[in-house]
Amino acid sequence: HFFNQKEPLLKGKKLLISAGPTREKIDPVRYLTNHSSGKMGYAIAEVAAKLGADVTLVSGPVHISSPRGVKVVNVESAEEMYEEMIVRFADAHIVIKTAAVADYRPKYTFEQKVKKNDGDQQLELERTKDILMALGKRKKNQVLVGFAAETNNVDVYAKGKLEKKNADMIVANDVTSAGAGFGTDTNIVTLYKRDGTKTALPLMSKHDVAENILKEALHLHEDERK
Ligand code: CTP
Ligand code: CA
Repeated sequence: HFFNQKEPLLKGKKLLISAGPTREKIDPVRYLTNHSSGKMGYAIAEVAAKLGADVTLVSGPVHISSPRGVKVVNVESAEEMYEEMIVRFADAHIVIKTAAVADYRPKYTFEQKVKKNDGDQQLELERTKDILMALGKRKKNQVLVGFAAETNNVDVYAKGKLEKKNADMIVANDVTSAGAGFGTDTNIVTLYKRDGTKTALPLMSKHDVAENILKEALHLHEDERK
C-alpha cells in the first residue's frame, strides 16, 4: 500500500501547493472572494508531508491550522499568491494548484471606506494574473497539476484547461454535485492527463482524493525523469 513502504514514497521530493481562496480588496472594510475552504489543498499538503515530501503550502485566508511538517506561506490577494508561487517554482518537483484564485479584482482600491449614496453603485473590475498559466509557460521538468471547478460541461472545460495552461494533469470537480466541492470533507473528481486518459474516481474523503492525486503526480514525475 501507498503508506506501507520502507522508504517514504515522496522522500527527497519538493512539493509546492496552493490552497484556499484569495481576497481582493475594495476598501479597508470590504473585499471580493469565493467559497473555497482550503480543505482539498490542505489535505494534499498533509498527506504529502506524511509521505516524506518537503512541502510548501502557499495559502489564501482559511480556517485550518497548519498541517504537521508543512511550511505554510500565507497570502491574501491573487497578486501575492502569484509572487510567492513564481519565486518557488524553479525548485519544485511537483506543483499542485488547488487554490480558487479570484479571476477579477477591483480596478481601484480605496484608501478610505467608500460611503453609500442614494441609488446604485458600480464596481470596476480588472483581470488578475492566471498563475497556473504563468507556471505552465515557465515549466521545465516540473509536474504541474491544476484543478477545475465547474458547474457544467466538465469534460470540455477540463480538457480545455489542461491544454491552455500546459498542465500535466487537471483534477476536475463538479462543484454543484452532492458530496463534492466547497467546504465538504468529501469530493468526486475526475483526473485528466495529457496522454488523453481520464480517470473518474468515486465519492471519497478529500484525504483519499489527495492520495490518488499524489500517486498520479509521482508517476508523472518518474516518467519525466526517464
Ligand atoms: N488559476 C490560477 N490563477 C487564476 C485563476 C485560476 O492559477 N487567476 C488556476 C486554479 O488554481 C486552478 C485552475 O487555474 O488550478 C483552474 O481554475 P478555474 O477557476 O477552474 O478556471 P479558470 O481558468 O479561472 O476559468 P473559469 O473560472 O472561467 O472556469
Ligand atoms: Ca476561475
